[in-house]
Amino acid sequence: MCGIIGYVGNKKASPILFEGLKKLEYRGYDSAGICTISENKTLVEKDIGKLDEIKKKVDFNSLKGNIGLSHCRWATHGKVTKENAHPHFDCKNRISIVHNGIIENFQELKDYLIKKDHKFRSGTDTEVIAHLIEENYKGNIENAVRNSLKKIEGSYSLGVMCLDEPDKLIATRNESPLIIGLGKDENFIASDVPAILKHTNKVIYLENHEIAVLTKNDVKIKLDKKKIKKTIHKIDWDSELAEKTGYKHFMLKEIHEQPRAITETLNGRLDHGGVDFRKELKFSEKYLKNLDRIIIVACGTSWHAALAGEFMLEELAKIPVEVEYASEFRYRRPIIDKNTLVIAISQSGETADTLAAIREAKNRNAKILSIVNSKGSSIARESDSVLYTYAGPEIGVASTKAFTTQLIVLYLFTLLMSSVRKSLKKDVMKGLIENLRKIPLEMEAMLNDTKSIKKIAEIYKEKDHALFLGRGVNFPLALEGALKLKEVSYIHAEGYPAAEMKHGPIALIDKKMPVMVIATKDVYTYKKVLGNIQEVKARGGIVIAIATEGDKQIGKISDCVIYIPKTLYILSSILAVVPMQLLAYYVARDRKLDPDKPRNLSKSVTVE
Ligand code: AGP
Repeated sequence: MCGIIGYVGNKKASPILFEGLKKLEYRGYDSAGICTISENKTLVEKDIGKLDEIKKKVDFNSLKGNIGLSHCRWATHGKVTKENAHPHFDCKNRISIVHNGIIENFQELKDYLIKKDHKFRSGTDTEVIAHLIEENYKGNIENAVRNSLKKIEGSYSLGVMCLDEPDKLIATRNESPLIIGLGKDENFIASDVPAILKHTNKVIYLENHEIAVLTKNDVKIKLDKKKIKKTIHKIDWDSELAEKTGYKHFMLKEIHEQPRAITETLNGRLDHGGVDFRKELKFSEKYLKNLDRIIIVACGTSWHAALAGEFMLEELAKIPVEVEYASEFRYRRPIIDKNTLVIAISQSGETADTLAAIREAKNRNAKILSIVNSKGSSIARESDSVLYTYAGPEIGVASTKAFTTQLIVLYLFTLLMSSVRKSLKKDVMKGLIENLRKIPLEMEAMLNDTKSIKKIAEIYKEKDHALFLGRGVNFPLALEGALKLKEVSYIHAEGYPAAEMKHGPIALIDKKMPVMVIATKDVYTYKKVLGNIQEVKARGGIVIAIATEGDKQIGKISDCVIYIPKTLYILSSILAVVPMQLLAYYVARDRKLDPDKPRNLSKSVTVE
């Protein structure tokens, strides 16, 4: 996935584009580039590496002009080279484009264009778009783009400029997100809100196949040549929120933002001893009551939240739940009927596999509820009902506050389903809500004292492998702890159900293997987990336990213990993930890695 920004207005474009790219670098940082138009010339600077590295090699500030496009790349087609960095151009450097997505028929188009004597400079799929527009250009850039799109198959969000029409930006999308920012005597295009929030909080979300024509004083949105009216959304994030506010990395900032994110996500949803989704949930009580099954589809961390949600819904609301990887679900022929609710969980709301999964489910007459963090995102717009997490912009590639707020929304939805299905007594419900309300403060207290975790991180610094174990609702947490560690520190980490160890993985245990065990107190499996710890210790493994405050036993059998506040077992998973997030962050830092931009990854996977 890549980042795109475009600007047209009265100010010098290049500094605005550079600053905005900095806020989009989480989307891809293999290479970056900026191009502007000034005095009838197309000016460009681009190179490989992260923006701060490129800035030392090129002078972006030398780019004059009040109109420009910029791009940060996560390579899909074509190696990470300067030639493959965006922007890309036609043969005469008259047409410049930036692109996020994958052109599936690019080779066929490239062969056709080469036969028409077009000269290619890169190995990317994107460059064919520039030459196709050149082939179709008859003096009107908007029409040339429209006619070129008819030949393109695949996903794209596109920014286009033309030397012969130097006051105009053209933007369009199919499957990859693109927003239009509306300023005063200036307008923007961007892949995501943080890139332009400093300049405007008024945005239009472009839909598939719509074409936007921007000048500094006007924005027209067209579908099949006809001008259409679009809603202007006001973004309530201030740009401060999208900044690091003093933390070294977004990941650490967002871990520490979790108490506030959870508070925001709870706000207005708990009253009269129950859950109040009245304003948001578009499903009748009758529909919810008649449900006989829920399927949850997601990817990555969101899939781990889904597994925890399955535990909550089955345990408390007594409704059968299945959790599916969205990437698998979309290619199966799932058995779905009108009494099946499909829930999609996604921080970005743009994950291609999850979007495709809900489309598959809709084709089979299921209703879709999505739990999303990004307002107005594709998954949100294509769902029958959305329950937002109010985590604010999550910039760090490793998902942290989105995950805990997803668990909160799943817990709230579980309580709602429990009351609709009358599966819980009123006093039990009241207790669940009282414990829920305490979570932000309990988490705040944990975050005020992280020195033990910094110390434990030293155990992992030189290690190559690690295990995470948990049972029940803590098994998905073990998976999440492993994912956090592997994606930011590059240590090979696996999560397992604690009981599963004896079926093979225990062969991995030796004195070089740190094993984090989530051993919070519960009536079901606590004693069994103690047994699993003994099994690991008996084979020389290093055991770091996450345990409930006041637990005296655990310290006697573990090498280190991280205590979390005493709360309900089901809620403890929301607290237990925090030490693992911090552990991953500190290990990455100690290994001199950048936790915000882990290699090979991007924040939202908008390609298959
Ligand atoms: C999480 O740390 C990862 N960055 C990744 O697994 C992510 O959760 C996954 O790509 C799903 O993204 P989404 O929640 O935006 O759909």
